[in-house]
Amino acid sequence: MTSATSTAPAPAATAARASGRQAPPATLVIFGGAGDLTKRLVVPALYNLLRAGRLADDFLIVGVGRGDTDTQSWRHDLRQMMQSLAADGSGEFRADGIDEDAWNWLARRMTFLSGDFTQPEIYSRLKALLAEQSTKRGNGNVLFYLAVADKFFGAIIEHLGRAQLTRQTNGDWRRVIIEKPFGHDLASARALNAQILRILTEDQIYRIDHFLGKESVQNILVLRFANGIFEPLWNRDHISHVQMTAAETVGVETRGRFYDGTGALRDMVPNHLFQLLAMIAMEPPVSFNADDVRAKKTELFSAIHPISPDDVVRGQYAAGTVLGKPVRGYRQEPAVAPSSATETYVALKLAIDNWRWARVPFYLRTGKYLAARTTEVAIHFRQAPYALFRETPVERLPRNILTLRIQPDEGLSVSFSAKRPGQDIEIDGVAMDFSYSDYFEPLTTVGYETLIYDCLIGDAMLFQRADTVEAAWCAVQPVLDAWAARPPGEFPNYAAGSSGPDAADRLLARDGYAWLPIGAAPARRGHRR
Ligand code: BG6
Repeated sequence: MTSATSTAPAPAATAARASGRQAPPATLVIFGGAGDLTKRLVVPALYNLLRAGRLADDFLIVGVGRGDTDTQSWRHDLRQMMQSLAADGSGEFRADGIDEDAWNWLARRMTFLSGDFTQPEIYSRLKALLAEQSTKRGNGNVLFYLAVADKFFGAIIEHLGRAQLTRQTNGDWRRVIIEKPFGHDLASARALNAQILRILTEDQIYRIDHFLGKESVQNILVLRFANGIFEPLWNRDHISHVQMTAAETVGVETRGRFYDGTGALRDMVPNHLFQLLAMIAMEPPVSFNADDVRAKKTELFSAIHPISPDDVVRGQYAAGTVLGKPVRGYRQEPAVAPSSATETYVALKLAIDNWRWARVPFYLRTGKYLAARTTEVAIHFRQAPYALFRETPVERLPRNILTLRIQPDEGLSVSFSAKRPGQDIEIDGVAMDFSYSDYFEPLTTVGYETLIYDCLIGDAMLFQRADTVEAAWCAVQPVLDAWAARPPGEFPNYAAGSSGPDAADRLLARDGYAWLPIGAAPARRGHRR
């Protein structure tokens, strides 16, 4: 065990790019240091933060994990992974190559502690290492990152507590980042909150939802609250309904074991989709202070009318063709039960019981192996009130839809009616489109930079509070209960590469609406199908 406490200044390139505030000096302790999340996302995010000039010279990294890894082999493995991510270029980490100065700066600050984090012994070693680092650095700030399977969250925090590693003294802070999933239903989320709140105070806990690390998700707040034109329209008088889609073109890949016990509802709805929902539907907070924003989110989730199981459609993919490639059905995936009743698709309708959203249905859908990869929110405005144009009855006028594209091709579009050039009044649907890439340099990000940086500076605005997480689980719990009591009928019920089960179309057709086609271009959006 060695401790790396190099305090060489940040590379010149880094300093030149620095624009914002540097995070205070601290040690980041990553449980699951040798795991996939650390390699693919956490370390690339640190590298990007360094290059953006956001890491202090006294920043240190400690990896904790099982296996035969040591500091040298850890640094080597991480370097290899960064190299292959950069070379691949198709994943989250895009770089023309690794900046050697920046990498060496990071690598010098890395130490690996090998051991079993379910046993007390490693915590004594960690304590000794952190004490040594604190003395050299002159502060004891530590951010613990639990990049491990959720079954370890409670136990690790208890060990940290017993070893007195969570105690904040002399103005130093101790914070803990907890990855998803936070519970698998309301009861388990409550139990986990109760367990960790015996050891930590709420302001030490950072429950991550990586959707909030996406620029385009954060931009929804700017769109709503930094512009005057949207808010007057943002209510039941002008909006007929809202569609939210998170469609994926990946299947469960190697995650069958995890996914078969989880399913699309738990995996995506009370967390990622609800975070999008909150950005769209919450009331304006009095400030962007973490507690003001989180209070508004909790208020919104608490206003969700208990979801009726009749308003929910579940689906499971059969074999099919995705992006031109034949793929197998869910039940044939590795580590998935051959008669699995786990859903890989869910669509639901929910109502929000408050003045702003009374009688405005929100339709949410998400699924694996769908026709295109797209995450978006489409706000459908009410039709013009009467038919001024005799040849075009009002219900046939193209719809006004504001579509916020979260990924890919981040941006937004507004579709509306225009007169087709010519002697007759012929109306057509057109769109105004804004793409981030047309205005801004693409940011090199894996989506975790802002989240890690915010933890280091103590800004919890993008993280979940205990009551917010519980309110979200509370909203979906009736569905989980109903499904547990009633197995799905016909599974599988959609072909991989399709738009999902037919029943999802009927869910909207009942109300006189139709889903926007998954992955359609903005200009076609206003057209009735
Ligand atoms: C994860 C889910 O939290 O989010 C995955 O566990 C899902 O199943 C992923 O694929 C989607 O995130 P993104 O950023 O790829 O849209």
